[in-house]
Order: sequence, then structure tokens, then C-alpha cells
Amino acid sequence: MKKIIVTATALVAASAFALTGCSGERGGGDTGAGTETETTGFEAGSTIGVALPDKTSENWVLAGQLFTDGLEEAGFKADVQYAPASNTVAEQQNQIQAMVTGGAKVIIIGAKDGKQLATQVQAAKDSGAYVIAYDRLIENTEAVDYYVAFDNFKVGQLQGQALLDGLAERAGHEAPYNIELFSGSPDDANSAVFFDGAMEVLQPKIEDGTLNVVSGQTEIAQTATEGWLAENAQNRMDTILTGSYGGDTALDGVLSPNDTLARAIITSVQQAGKTVPVVTGQDSEVESVKSIMEGIQYSTINKDTALLVEQAIKMVGQLQKGEDVDVNDTESYDNGKKIVDSYLLEPLIVTKENAAEAYANVPSLLEIVKSYQ
Ligand code: BGC
Repeated sequence: MKKIIVTATALVAASAFALTGCSGERGGGDTGAGTETETTGFEAGSTIGVALPDKTSENWVLAGQLFTDGLEEAGFKADVQYAPASNTVAEQQNQIQAMVTGGAKVIIIGAKDGKQLATQVQAAKDSGAYVIAYDRLIENTEAVDYYVAFDNFKVGQLQGQALLDGLAERAGHEAPYNIELFSGSPDDANSAVFFDGAMEVLQPKIEDGTLNVVSGQTEIAQTATEGWLAENAQNRMDTILTGSYGGDTALDGVLSPNDTLARAIITSVQQAGKTVPVVTGQDSEVESVKSIMEGIQYSTINKDTALLVEQAIKMVGQLQKGEDVDVNDTESYDNGKKIVDSYLLEPLIVTKENAAEAYANVPSLLEIVKSYQ
């Protein structure tokens, strides 16, 4: 039997956070150190449950297939489920409960609403299963063992910096620049982390007058995009353009948290007959990579889903053998009840300039990039 011991440094760091309320944690509260997960191993060939949310971006679609294939290749039985867009939260709760009843030994969850799964993940824990939060943190429960994701705060920082770089490159005039801010769905723990990362870069530039948020909407609640739905971003952009960008007031840039929303924002601006601003994104969706190569969308983020799924499956393998599970961050993700041991991968900013290099290991995207060169 092996145990994961939270390192002394992590404990010191965690208590320092608790004392000062210092940022550095990416989740809800200021909980102390994480609860240890004991890894006792389980039978090879067991069933592994994978509960994914609705398909609000291409990465979720891809993840399902990669989990099915990868888990089976690793010798497990894969039970991969998506929750339909119409009733995602309740369906996802039912699916996880069914995985527990069905005897899954590890349940990997891409949460639809990370605040509404405490009962189901506790049931998983009580049944002796391990719970891995995949891409999105599960909040307000001790029953989540690990978190595997791309470094969400870094994603936000890269987006903020890309917006500044894009403005300097493309706005065609000196500062001040007129910009607008969008964030993701409030039920996704990542949304605030992306936004905080971006605002760490942008806030000082708003304060010194380099950036002007013409609508005045700078609070996360004002910028949110319910359900990560394109139509909601497009409607909000339409309303802002009508209300704040009358006449020839130019919109120079938009912080968009992902590609789906970036394209909706661009559509709104085009329909309003305005020049397309510098728009950021995330996920390297096919249509956005094309748009970037055509010089329309400015940037995206490469979070290679294959690598994230591979890391999650590696964790499953380690749990099965009763080995230590690889984690590289034991202080950032406080879910309100514990600091969740995490494995964070590095996201990469992509613009037209570095696209070929950035997708060197992603053949399908590299092919698209090459077709424009
Ligand atoms: C993911 C993003 C994705 C968004 C919408 C987030 O939790 O990290 O990659 O764009 O959900 O699906």
C-alpha cells in the first residue's frame, strides 16, 4: 500500500496562503492542505468510467474517442458517457451514479457544473473508487482525489498578453485601445481562472489608460457567457456594439476565452459592418485555426487533448497498480474543501506566426496550416 504524502513545502505554502489569503490558489476558498489519497491498487481489466459534459467545444468530442481507445489499449473496460445539452447536470449526476453502481474503479469527470457533483463523487469514494477531475475542477467536496488539466491560469495570462500583442500589431494606431471582455460559463470553475489570469495582464493596462473597456463591463459576472454558448456571446456582443460603439467608434480588441465564442464575437462585429478587432481564443478548433491563417481571429491556445487524455490514463494505470500518482502541483487548486493534488500541462499560445511550429505534433492542424503557406 502506498500513500501520497503532501510535501512539507506544500504544507508551508498552503498554510501561508491560508494566513494571508494570498492569491495563487485557483479555486473557491482558503482551505488548508490536501487530504491524502491512499492508493491500494485494484484488479487489472476493471471498468473505468468517464463522464464528459455536453459538447461545447471540439476538445470534448475528441476526448471521448481518445478515452475509449486509450483505456481499452491500456487493458481497461471503458464506460464513456456524455451528458446531453438539454439536461446536462441531472444527466451527468445520473451517469456518475450508474458508474458507481456498475463498479467502476476510477471515475474521470469533465464536469458540466463542478459545484453540483458532491453527492455523486462522495458515493464514488464510498464505493472505494477514485475520482479524477478532468479539465474542470470539482468543487466543495473532499471526495475528489486528483485534478488533471492544462494550467488554466497560464491560459488566461497568455490570452491577455496575446490581446496586447495583437493590438500593438494590428490596431493601426497608438493606445488607447477600445476593448471588450468576455468570460466563460459561471458553472465551470475554469472560467474564473481564465479570466483572472487574463486580468492579471490587462488590469494594469486598463488602469493606466492603455485599454478602454468602452461598455464599462469589467466584472466577471458582467462578462460571463452562460453555458459557453456561441449564441449568448453573439447576443452580448450585438448589444454592446449597439449601446457603446455607435457611429465610427472602433472596437480594437476583444478578450474571448475560447474559439467557439471568438467566432461568434467576430460574426457579430462583421454583421454590424465594423472592422474585425483583435480577438483571442482557446482550443485550436479547426475553424479558428483556418480563421487565424486567414488573418481574421488573432490567436488561440494549443491544449493538445491527446496529451491530457494520456496523462489521465497514466494516472489510472498508477492507481491500478497501487503506485504513487504523478502530480506536479499541490497548492493551486483549492476546491473549497481541500487543495486538490494536480497534474498541470503547459498550454501554448498560437498565432499565425508560430502556428506551424505550435502544431508540429498535431498532424491534422499542421496540414491546415501548411495549406495556407
Ligand atoms: C475548457 C475549455 C473549453 C470550455 C468550453 C473549459 O472548461 O477548459 O477548453 O473551451 O470549457 O467547452
